[in-house]
Amino acid sequence: MDLKTVDFYYFSGTGNTFLVVKKMQETFQKNGIEAKMHRIESSDPEKVNLDNTIGLGFPVAELSTYEFVWEFIKSLPPSEGTEIFMVDTLGGISGGIVGPLREIVKKKGYVPIGAKEIIMPPNIFYIQDEETNKNKIEKGLIKAEEYAIEIINGKAKWGRIPVLSDAVYYTSLLGLKITETDLNQKFMYLTADKEKCNKCGTCVELCPIDNIKIGNDKYPKNLMHCQYCLRCTSFCPKDAIPCKFNYEGKTYRAVKPKELLI
Ligand SMILES: Cc1cc2nc3c(=O)[nH]c(=O)nc-3n(C[C@H](O)[C@H](O)[C@H](O)COP(=O)(O)O)c2cc1C
Repeated sequence: MDLKTVDFYYFSGTGNTFLVVKKMQETFQKNGIEAKMHRIESSDPEKVNLDNTIGLGFPVAELSTYEFVWEFIKSLPPSEGTEIFMVDTLGGISGGIVGPLREIVKKKGYVPIGAKEIIMPPNIFYIQDEETNKNKIEKGLIKAEEYAIEIINGKAKWGRIPVLSDAVYYTSLLGLKITETDLNQKFMYLTADKEKCNKCGTCVELCPIDNIKIGNDKYPKNLMHCQYCLRCTSFCPKDAIPCKFNYEGKTYRAVKPKELLI
């Protein structure tokens, strides 16, 4: 394998994936490989450079990943042998990504060279204490570095367990469809507390799918197509968007918003 330039397309809701992708980028660069990071939410999949190695990085959500991440991947152009690898970050359980994603990119003509799932602090339901999170991040970043070295040395692998992986993938797609329903959007409605919100618009800037707009009253408005990446609730500078489905309403962030949006 002749790895020269990596274009790393990533999405990160609360910073875990960002840190992993950044660590991998640094490792590539230390080894003389040019590596650029591109945010999925502001990249056109049809314009990827097929002469470079493509990296994909994203969080696990509902045992697979967010609908808009799948859309990006499914819209990649056909290729004649571009090498591609993936990394995801998760709280603990996945299953619906590695196999199906490998099939999608293979069918498009890419050469899958590596897949890795890296455990990082969970950002939903139960947010652990700072020390535990710090230790998990440290371990996760060691894994990220090791994985980048495996890719450089041609030792990384992208395996597939067909039946199980596909079953989890299709179950997860159903889950993602349920997420989109009005009932779910109403039940899990993330919105700013007007007592705390200072109308700064950070949430509008952070939302990867333009689901938040400023309303006539100048307060942010949830347009009810939320995919629950949790960026708005995690990075609101006034903590004005409560994450009501997290234990004690706690939020998680691995980095500052300015770092996330480089
Ligand atoms: C809506 C949602 C669904 C999630 N689903 C899963 C899951 O199925 N399995 C899992 O292990 N972690 C799950 N997580 C946890 C995240 O995958 C994990 O914390 C990830 O590292 C977050 O990455 P980020 O900070 O880059 O967004 C979920 C998080 C969210 C917000």
